[in-house]
Amino acid sequence: MPAEENPPICDYEGSDYQSVFWEEGGRAYEDQVEAIALKRLLPDSGKLLLETGAGAGRNTPRYQGFENIVLLDYSLSQLQLAQERLGIDHRYRYVAADVYHLPFIPGTFDTVTMIRTLHHMADAPAALRQVRQVLQPDGIFLLEYANKRNLKAILRYALRKQDWSPFTLEPIEFAELNYDFHPRAVTHWLRDCQFEVERQLTVSHYRIGILKRFVPHRLLVGMDSLAQLTGNWFQLSPSVFVRSRAAGTTPVNETGSIFRCPTCGTYPLREGAEVVCCDSCSNQWGIVNGIYDFRESLT
Ligand SMILES: C[S@@+](CC[C@H](N)C(=O)[O-])C[C@H]1O[C@@H](n2cnc3c(N)ncnc32)[C@H](O)[C@@H]1O
Repeated sequence: MPAEENPPICDYEGSDYQSVFWEEGGRAYEDQVEAIALKRLLPDSGKLLLETGAGAGRNTPRYQGFENIVLLDYSLSQLQLAQERLGIDHRYRYVAADVYHLPFIPGTFDTVTMIRTLHHMADAPAALRQVRQVLQPDGIFLLEYANKRNLKAILRYALRKQDWSPFTLEPIEFAELNYDFHPRAVTHWLRDCQFEVERQLTVSHYRIGILKRFVPHRLLVGMDSLAQLTGNWFQLSPSVFVRSRAAGTTPVNETGSIFRCPTCGTYPLREGAEVVCCDSCSNQWGIVNGIYDFRESLT
């Protein structure tokens, strides 16, 4: 896939994803096994965590060990929903922005998460490079991605019910702006971006309707919890969680502020009550009801 400056965005503006997919969609098993994976991989504590593609904040309460959390999503309506769901809490900051153009000073965060979001990235390496840039050296990146080399895809390919190979390294776009990735490709991209892969967990092994219907929920979750532990050796589940550490001697942000201009890269920005301004390129971004909106400049 060629690198583009502005890859297309899968925008969830106005989407009922949180209610329809999670709350009414029979996804208690997936939600629970993801919570277990996060608990296993997250540092116990930290100062500033960035949640990219935060959506309606489904996972945010799971980051309790962190002093402050920045929720970033391209969709304003998802962030508004997150605000409603999480309530007023000075530890949370909401940012509407594009993962491909993160509006943060290099070396700002000690931890970044990206859960169920890479699968919307037409240029996944570009998104990972952005994450690496805003992490401090030694910082932790928790990534979840959709695995094309999963057991179901292998079986379907073997039975000739699917024409694409689960074994080749390129992403498969199974629906518009929805991609599954090969584990080896993701590992290569992470290494290319100066990440050291520390641990992998395979997740959602039993994401099959009939199992979810007939096997007791707690048993299925317990079975997945055990199977997750094989993730360092082989990855055949539809979802994989990877914990990586930022390697190299990149800068640490010591300015006391977090934002940089997503257009020209200048920092720090001048912050008022209703706008954030870049004195270098004169772009301005709005702050509406507590949400910083870096999607389009006001000027
Ligand atoms: C499937 S939802 C996942 C939400 C949440 N992480 C969860 O697991 O419940 C994907 C989210 O990624 C956001 N997203 C997609 N592309 C993005 C981009 N380029 N920049 C910022 N957010 C993006 C969407 O708006 C959406 O809220």
